[in-house]
Amino acid sequence: MSAAVSPEKILQLGFGFWGSKTLLSAIELGLFTQLAEGPLGHAELEKRLGLHPRSSRDFFDALVALGMLRKDGDRYANTPECAQFLDRSKPTYVGGILEMLNARLYGFWGSLSEALKTGKPQNESKAGGDIFGQLYSDPARLRGFLAAMTGVSMGSAMAIAQKFPWKEYKTFFDVGGAQGAVAVQVARAHPHVTGGSWDLPQTGPIFEEYVRSHGLEKRLRFQAGNFFKEPLPKADVLIMGHILHDWDLPTKKMLVKKAYDALPAGGAFLVYEALIDDARRENAFGLLMSLNMLIETPGGFDYTGADCQGWMREAGFRETRVEHLVGPDSMVVGIK
Ligand SMILES: C[S@@+](CC[C@H](N)C(=O)[O-])C[C@H]1O[C@@H](n2cnc3c(N)ncnc32)[C@H](O)[C@@H]1O
Repeated sequence: MSAAVSPEKILQLGFGFWGSKTLLSAIELGLFTQLAEGPLGHAELEKRLGLHPRSSRDFFDALVALGMLRKDGDRYANTPECAQFLDRSKPTYVGGILEMLNARLYGFWGSLSEALKTGKPQNESKAGGDIFGQLYSDPARLRGFLAAMTGVSMGSAMAIAQKFPWKEYKTFFDVGGAQGAVAVQVARAHPHVTGGSWDLPQTGPIFEEYVRSHGLEKRLRFQAGNFFKEPLPKADVLIMGHILHDWDLPTKKMLVKKAYDALPAGGAFLVYEALIDDARRENAFGLLMSLNMLIETPGGFDYTGADCQGWMREAGFRETRVEHLVGPDSMVVGIK
């Protein structure tokens, strides 16, 4: 055996879910929100979270060792990151997506091998039915899902507001805009722009509530629509984030064509996802996201920037480009 070869990387990846689930349970139990006011001693924190004495010390200290808590003597405190992003009472909370990982995907990914063999979804729609119908039939699940979308898209939303040349455009619709993370970030950064979300009707009240909480109700509006039944709305810019990856190839192409048809000449189509690198060997998050589409949908899959530019060109877009946004996320821009 070569001295340079070690099993460490393999074991670290294999054991990865231990640390992941410890963090997800801490979020579920509200640990970081409890610590928002300041550090707490071990006994007080144990009592507030309703933990068994057998578990609490190891749980808290494991989070310290994982870099998710600070410890000073017997007192535990939030790290700066956890204070900003995992305190439920802050607008910067990104735990929505992590709550969904804990409540839904952690269990569903337990059936990954079955999905790999059958090609069939492993979530609520395992017995049939469509994912959005299943998710949206329960108000709490609907709200949780839309908040999760805000969590997963916030970084991209901020980058889209910064990197896209909004000066050249006045109106936009985010197609499948969910709670409104992108709409709000764009409107906040560019006072001359108006727009909104065009999405299934059940999402309207949740979008409007989020927009009102940012004081943007005069510039952002909700319009109900269903992209299987209607043309897309007219605007200078149409956005689709985590939409194309939900569907099979013919549906992806149908949606790209509908965006082309709805835009004016010179209008822009902006698609953002955890785009897979063209060689399909680097963006592990994008590739795992595609496996997540295997778990969640009957035909969805993630794709590369080259794939998406090809569909755009085929639909008639005269100019296309790929631009990195943040972390694993990039956008593809098509100009009509
Ligand atoms: C995976 S979420 C993406 C949300 C958001 N764009 C983001 O990236 O955070 C998919 C969105 O598509 C919307 N959607 C699903 N089916 C739709 C349909 N037939 N017509 C319009 N919107 C739809 C959902 O309501 C949801 O908001």
